[in-house]
Amino acid sequence: MNREDITKAVGALQAHREASHETVADLFRVDPKRFENFHIKLDDVLFDYSKHRVTRTTLDLLFALARAAGVDERRSKFFGGEAINITEHRPALHMALRKLDDGPMFAQGTDVMPAVRAERAKIFAFAEAVRNGTIKAANGERFTDIVNIGIGGSDLGPRMVVTALTPFVADHLTIHFVSNVDGADLGDKLKKLPLATTLFIICSKTFTTLETMTNAQTARQFVSEKLGEAAVADHFCAVSTQLDKIAAFGIKPDRVFGFWDWVGGRYSVWSAIGLSVVIAIGAEKFEKFLLGGQDIDQHFQTAPLESNVPVLMALLEIWYHDYWHYMTRAVIPYDERMNRFSAYLQQLEMESNGKSIQISGEKVTQSTAPVVWGEPGTNGQHAFFQMLHQGTEIVPVDFFVAAQPSGADPKHHQLLLANCLAQSQALMQGRSLEEVKSRLTAQKLDQAAIDALAPHKVFPGDRPSSTFLYKRLSPRVLGQLIALHEHKVFVQGVIWNIDSFDQWGVELGKELANELTPLIRDSDTSLEGLDSSTRGLVTEIRRHKKG
Ligand code: F6P
Repeated sequence: MNREDITKAVGALQAHREASHETVADLFRVDPKRFENFHIKLDDVLFDYSKHRVTRTTLDLLFALARAAGVDERRSKFFGGEAINITEHRPALHMALRKLDDGPMFAQGTDVMPAVRAERAKIFAFAEAVRNGTIKAANGERFTDIVNIGIGGSDLGPRMVVTALTPFVADHLTIHFVSNVDGADLGDKLKKLPLATTLFIICSKTFTTLETMTNAQTARQFVSEKLGEAAVADHFCAVSTQLDKIAAFGIKPDRVFGFWDWVGGRYSVWSAIGLSVVIAIGAEKFEKFLLGGQDIDQHFQTAPLESNVPVLMALLEIWYHDYWHYMTRAVIPYDERMNRFSAYLQQLEMESNGKSIQISGEKVTQSTAPVVWGEPGTNGQHAFFQMLHQGTEIVPVDFFVAAQPSGADPKHHQLLLANCLAQSQALMQGRSLEEVKSRLTAQKLDQAAIDALAPHKVFPGDRPSSTFLYKRLSPRVLGQLIALHEHKVFVQGVIWNIDSFDQWGVELGKELANELTPLIRDSDTSLEGLDSSTRGLVTEIRRHKKG
């Protein structure tokens, strides 16, 4: 990192931003080859970034910023297993989990690959035995239902991947996810599950998380009451880095799967945390998913910055967030099975980069981590797209769509594709007042009606979007999409000079909840010392409890 070069690069970008007056539609008009020049193909994934407010100059200035921030050097440290998570003194080495060749990978000098391969083999063997019925429920039958109990990274990844890969899930299995401490989450599922053939996976990196431990205890008690205490051993398995804590829960040692502290929770779907995914789709398909991650690791390490997709994704967002002050980004998969993707990216991006303090301990100098939000298309078109097209806030959009449907009706798929392409086109092109007026004139409206209606029908356009177009949503493509975003987050973290791998911002709320729990549980404890809002709310809760 070179501070002087960064200041220069930031200044140049600010000046360029002020001088940027061409619309994206103008850029398409002057460059008939804009699509050819502004897209990248990675195997089956095409990344189209032509509909962005960028020229070659913009990109060159952004690459200069990346170079000044030291993206290359930090990436070498990252893949070299140095302790780049400086506040927790750990490497961030989730890439080792999807390394499928025979080579080594080092975490602070130790080759982690022998342990990674051994654990992977253990998970694959267990998952296959559950799938083929070698490992049975207490009643001797094959498991039909799997319940993953976990939250945050121990839930969002497996949940999103299993949902996205629905066509690859074994027909005889149903996978469920319980995360919320709200008893309704587990309670509603327990009412409907075929308990006698249900396997629970307790997933928690720390094995201390309140939500997961509470749900796990309740599920354990339920199994013990309904199937007998002896059945608990057959119906539970666990995944954690804290193997001693699992033993205390009473899970058989051969049903315990580990991973390592150099795997962040939100980067853990590639590890044993993905056990529910392996059971759902099988080891072979899971390996394809890992392969997708590995493809992107290779691309990210070897492609020059100019054609490096995670780098481009990171820089485009920085351009809008820090120089145009667009505060959010919408993630819109035209892919119903990707309906958990934006929730997944919320944790990946906002927990990683939602920071205000630089690695040096100083305050950041630019705005970090835009809000990520979204829902699948075409549903979103009938909800929030009005605002995307005509609202006062400009929201860059990422569209995701498959050229071929995975086991869905092709007739529907044509409509889905046409709608996805139409939306990015409409956001970019817009519709001018003159065009609206001429259309209304053609409809034979009188002049007064035209003048009154026309401004409401104008689309400003010039609203940026990327499109990720892939052949089919296969395990490998999904692995690629996830890893692209992981590395994008890394690059942004380097440019903002923050630690993308810690999450201290979740601690205060946890601590205060621990302090408030006894006040809510025991009505006679004193509320002295609480702020008047919290005291008022607890008093009202107590009043309702009495009622
Ligand atoms: O509260 C945030 C968090 O620590 C996440 O980073 C993590 O993914 C989640 O909680 C769950 O943690 P664990 O896997 O340890 O239960």
